[in-house]
Amino acid sequence: MQKITIAIDGFSSTGKSTVAKQLAKHLGYIYVDSGAMYRAVTLYTMQNGWIDKDHFDVVALVSNLSNVEISFKFNPNLGFAEVYLNGKNVEKQIRTLEVSSYVSKVAAIPEVRYQLVKQQHQMGKDKGVVMDGRDIGTVVFPNAELKLFMTASAETRAQRRYDELIERGDNITYEDVLKNVRERDYIDSNRENSPLVKAEDAIEIDNSNLTLDQQFEKILNLVNTRL
Ligand code: C5P
Repeated sequence: MQKITIAIDGFSSTGKSTVAKQLAKHLGYIYVDSGAMYRAVTLYTMQNGWIDKDHFDVVALVSNLSNVEISFKFNPNLGFAEVYLNGKNVEKQIRTLEVSSYVSKVAAIPEVRYQLVKQQHQMGKDKGVVMDGRDIGTVVFPNAELKLFMTASAETRAQRRYDELIERGDNITYEDVLKNVRERDYIDSNRENSPLVKAEDAIEIDNSNLTLDQQFEKILNLVNTRL
């Protein structure tokens, strides 16, 4: 059967990665979490002391980008690929609220985007890929056979992210998470380079009131129309 490219974009915590993983598993495709790549670059920037609340040394980051090596390795126990930064598994470290609070600033740097988009093209060159992010249907794979744009209210999304972080044992408040969700929505939608916009030919899925099963069924029906 012919393989296609599935691009899933949308605001943070809209459940993109959940459905992308389900689809990749069902179809036997590769799943690429492009947000994890921006998060890994952010972690690298933090580890080097180039970003904190008051400063961001963009020059240091850009001049060291060639030293950042990001890869994915499938973990059969989890059923998806975990992200590695310079050979080290950073899957857990990249999901903290601290990384979330800086990632949109790092992701707005054109050189960072250029480097990661190049790698994303390479990962999807043979099709059979489900990639989620902010610019997948608009910039990375504008010719993807299926483009989805996921939405849900900021409150619904913040609650989901809050529940995830609490389950992991993080000490945070719902208000902090909601603030972060709103801030990232704003920066991601208003940046000059590859802002988050719905591709003209993307299908919008508002999952505020859909169960995971209902959402999966709806999306799988769409996939079947493209195969
Ligand atoms: O998907 P996730 O919420 O983990 O993405 C983290 C951040 O990475 C986003 O808020 C956005 O700033 C950035 N991002 C991006 N382009 C992508 C994927 C993520 O700018 N394709």
